[in-house]
Amino acid sequence: MGKLELAPVHFIDGKLYILDQTLLPEEEVYIELQNKEEVFDAIKTLKVRGAPAIGVAAGYGIYVSMRRELMSMPSSGYVQEDLMTFGGVLRDVCKYIGSARPTAVNLTWAAERMELAFKNSHATSIREAAKALLNEAVEIHSEDIQACRAMGEYGLSLLGSGMGILTHCNAGTLAASKYGTCLAPIYLGHEQGYEFHVYADETRPLLQGARLTAWELNREGIDVTLICDNMANTVMKQGLIDAVVVGCDRMTANGDGANKIGTSALAVLAKEYDIPFYMFVPTSSIDLNTLSGEDIEIEIRDEEEIRSLWYEKPMTPQEVKIFNPAFDVTPAKYITAIVTEKGIVRPPFDVNLKAIVNGEKQVEELDSSLEEF
Ligand code: MRU
Repeated sequence: MGKLELAPVHFIDGKLYILDQTLLPEEEVYIELQNKEEVFDAIKTLKVRGAPAIGVAAGYGIYVSMRRELMSMPSSGYVQEDLMTFGGVLRDVCKYIGSARPTAVNLTWAAERMELAFKNSHATSIREAAKALLNEAVEIHSEDIQACRAMGEYGLSLLGSGMGILTHCNAGTLAASKYGTCLAPIYLGHEQGYEFHVYADETRPLLQGARLTAWELNREGIDVTLICDNMANTVMKQGLIDAVVVGCDRMTANGDGANKIGTSALAVLAKEYDIPFYMFVPTSSIDLNTLSGEDIEIEIRDEEEIRSLWYEKPMTPQEVKIFNPAFDVTPAKYITAIVTEKGIVRPPFDVNLKAIVNGEKQVEELDSSLEEF
C-alpha cells in the first residue's frame, strides 16, 4: 500500500483501513479493521471519529464484519435457511456496531441502511446478500463525498475572502469525506484564492481542534491560529471573528443541534456579538424522529480524558470528581443558518428542515440572483 490520500476511511481491495486519529498529529498511521470488535473499538476510542466518518466506517465495518462472521456460519444446505441466519447475524452486528457511541445519529443511520439494503435486495444467495451490503457501504461513502462538496459550495456563498472564522472541534477532512463539513467552504475558497483567517478552539478535553483541525488546515497552507476554548470571547470582542462555523452530530426536528461540548457556548457568545453562527449538517445527521435537543442522549466519557490523558502527570488528584460530557446541544434560536448538502436552511427550522430533508423545496438556491432573470 503506497502513501494514501488523507482521509479517515479507505476501502481498498476489499479491506477497510482507518486513519488512527489518536496518533495525530505526530504519526499518520492507517490500520486495518477486520471484525466487529475492532470496528466497535475504533469508533468508541475515537480512532475514527466525526459523525459522517463514523457512518462511513460503520457501513464498510458492517460489511467486513459480516464477511468474518460468515467464516463461522456453517451452511445448512438450504439457501433460504442460510439467508435467514445471515439476516439474524446482520441484525446483531448492526446493533452492536451501532451502539459504539450514542450521540452521532450517523452511526445508527448507517447501520439501519445496511440492514435495509439486505432486506430490500431480496438476495437469493449469500453472495448476493454480501454484494448488496458492499454496494450500500460504497453508496454511503460516495453520498458523503458529494454532500461535503455541496456543503462547501453553499457554505462559501455565506463567506467572503479576508474573513476571520472561528471553528470548534474538527469537522474537516478527518471527520468526513475529503472536504469535511464546516471546513469544506474554507478548503473550496482556498482553492479559489480566498484568504481566510481561521481560529481553531483547542477543544478540551480531547483536543480535536489542536491535534486535528489546526493540523489539517496548516498542512493545506491555510492561515490558522490555535486558541484555548476560553479565549473565544476575547477574539470575538477584538473583532477578529466574522463567522462561526461548526459541524453537528445530531440535529433534531426543531433545529436544535448536538455537537462537541462547548459549541453551545460559542453560539450564545456569537449572538451577543452579532456574529453569524452557521451549523453544517448533512442530511445524514438530521434526525426528524427526535423532536428536540432535550431528547438527545449525550455521551459521557472516561474521567481520565480530563484528568490525565494528554499529560505526563495527572492534572488533578485522583479523588477529585470529574464530569465529562462529550457533546452539548445548541438551541435552534442561536443558529443563524443550517448548511446542508441540499441547500441553506433558514428559520423557521421546524418547517424548513422537514421540507429540505423530504426534498419538497430547495430552501435557498446557490445563486439567488439568477431568480431575477
Ligand atoms: O467526539 P468527536 O471527535 O467524534 O466529535 C466530533 C464533532 O463534534 C464534530 O463536530 C461532528 O461530529 C461533526 S463532524 C463533520
